[in-house]
Amino acid sequence: MKNRLIILILAGFLAGGISALGLYMLQNTNPGPKQISTGKALIGGPFTLTEHTGRRVTEADFKGRFTLVYFGYTYCPDVCPAELQVISAALDQLGTKAEKVTPVFITIDPERDTVELMKDYVSNFHKSLIGLTGSVKEVRAAARAYRIYYKKSAEEGSSDDYLMDHSSIVYLMSPEGEYLTHFAYGTGVDKMAKGIAKYL
Ligand code: NI
Repeated sequence: MKNRLIILILAGFLAGGISALGLYMLQNTNPGPKQISTGKALIGGPFTLTEHTGRRVTEADFKGRFTLVYFGYTYCPDVCPAELQVISAALDQLGTKAEKVTPVFITIDPERDTVELMKDYVSNFHKSLIGLTGSVKEVRAAARAYRIYYKKSAEEGSSDDYLMDHSSIVYLMSPEGEYLTHFAYGTGVDKMAKGIAKYL
């Protein structure tokens, strides 16, 4: 009777030990939601849009060139034109070095920003500026790839007269389409030009 009790106790300990060991192994072999540690920011990616010339383009059309990517909209009263002017001036400051860089303006207001409107709008800025628009779905996919937030402003008047809230960030992307750096809104011409030059 006494031996049997000892055996039961030992069996209990053994079972407990095996369970604990199993749990330990499970926790240590399950990969779980690990961080991707490539050191590259997850910005950029595939897109299909329409250039201000009417040409359909994808991210592949920009391979081999640095791009300065900025999302905004042509009806923007202040932020977008100011930012596009800074981009234009920074490229001017870089002189011939800027030939390696293509500035790209992607609308987040595709319902109003037609190809014709984009064509007219980009002509106000740097001569190499490319305007991109597309369907609502195409623009949404591109903005998602670049982690851009945008939303029709709540204070909209008539259905055709509204403002857009949107992130105002200029991304410098490598000729392979990978994120290099970004410039927050308010970055001056000089700082942006120097920031770009580091990568050229
Ligand atoms: Ni804007």
